[in-house]
Amino acid sequence: MKNTPNILGIDFGTSNSAAGINLNGSPFIIELEPGEQTLPTSVFFDFENRKTMFGRPANCALINGYDGRYMRSFKSILGTSLMHEPRRIMGETLTFVEIIARFLQTIKTRAEDICHTQFHYALSGRPVHFYSNDAERDVQALRDLHECYERAGFQDVKFLNEPEAAALAAGPLPEGATNLIIDIGGGTSDFSVFQTNGNQTNIIASFGARIGGTNFDKSISFDHVMPLMGRGTQIRKELGNDLLTAPNAIYQDLATWEKIPFLYNVATLHNVDQMIRDGVYPKLFERLKTIISEQFGHELAFAVENAKITLNLRDNHVTPIDLNFIEHDLATTLESKDLGTSLGGYATSIGDTANETLRIANLTPEEIDTIIFVGGSSQMSAVQAEFTARFPRAKQKHQAAFTGVIEGLALATAYPFYD
Ligand SMILES: Nc1ncnc2c1ncn2[C@@H]1O[C@H](COP(=O)(O)OP(=O)(O)OP(=O)(O)O)[C@@H](O)[C@H]1O
Ligand SMILES: [Mg+2]
Repeated sequence: MKNTPNILGIDFGTSNSAAGINLNGSPFIIELEPGEQTLPTSVFFDFENRKTMFGRPANCALINGYDGRYMRSFKSILGTSLMHEPRRIMGETLTFVEIIARFLQTIKTRAEDICHTQFHYALSGRPVHFYSNDAERDVQALRDLHECYERAGFQDVKFLNEPEAAALAAGPLPEGATNLIIDIGGGTSDFSVFQTNGNQTNIIASFGARIGGTNFDKSISFDHVMPLMGRGTQIRKELGNDLLTAPNAIYQDLATWEKIPFLYNVATLHNVDQMIRDGVYPKLFERLKTIISEQFGHELAFAVENAKITLNLRDNHVTPIDLNFIEHDLATTLESKDLGTSLGGYATSIGDTANETLRIANLTPEEIDTIIFVGGSSQMSAVQAEFTARFPRAKQKHQAAFTGVIEGLALATAYPFYD
């Protein structure tokens, strides 16, 4: 089945997805939304119009306050028991397998309409490890994703490590040079060491860890925004005069993109009511109640993500976070030093994961000629500073942050994967 034209390349990302094919030896990225090369990995079940929306329209529906249920970052659920748990949405019983399958099916159908062909097979990206510290979950996550592709209507799916795909599209590099791809996305940090010889890309080693931009958002939110909702404040014990600190779990979940929808239930509201009743600062828990009852969790996550990106792009030392949607005139600020305290540990762990990749390759940092950044979170200055320090000798190259992986997958659809 060499050069089979009906294989669709899909980069199913935690935050953004993309699709592409090999067109006469070059990657052709399919516009899954008009004028756009990526599709936000999100879904909105619109209760009023009884419609399911994906990507940017889903994000808009959320921001415009439509009545419904929004979900994003569902790639992070692969490998967990939540994947197969049935839940009622718009009169249907759905699992995350089905929800992800519908997202992938939307990509398939749109790609077919644009390319005037049917795609029976998929070549999908995958992180090197969904879970680097849990082999069983790692295997289950891939099994889950495989099931989603089959449910989406593909006869078969093959997987390629995301950084290896990015290596295929890394562009001209000196013959025989040793290079390191650094792919930091929304959910994972992935690395590949490779050399190019003529048209050949030789992968020497790949490795990765479950750290990405959504973890950055979570830490920033937990450290700097959740205190406004009562995190860390005191609650009186039901009996006696003792005080307890408000439980962290609810704040952890509220700061975690994929966990937010699971907070919208009666049991959580009941807990928050108790916190209001017994809290030393009940007004803060009232805000928490507004977020849960009005389902503002994703708005909050977007506000934090936007502040992170703005602060990173402009390096302007302070960025406001407008929380007016929770309470009139409620706002806070995020400073460069806050990013440093919340993200420093992640930058070190990401750097350590790169070093582990080199260890597997039996190389030292001095032997790397070029480091190539790809993925939205590779643009974080904390990440770039970490790699400049660890690889002082290496040249730095920046591949298209959001399309580097799909370009490689698109190219690879013509390689003999289905022999
Ligand atoms: N300019 C920027 N500076 C810093 N971070 C950014 C910037 N733009 C986007 N991001 C972050 O990049 C992440 C998304 O990157 P990307 O689309 O590469 O991830 P993904 O491919 O969906 O995830 P993964 O590959 O981990 O599954 C988000 O966390 C987003 O907040
Ligand atoms: Mg990615």
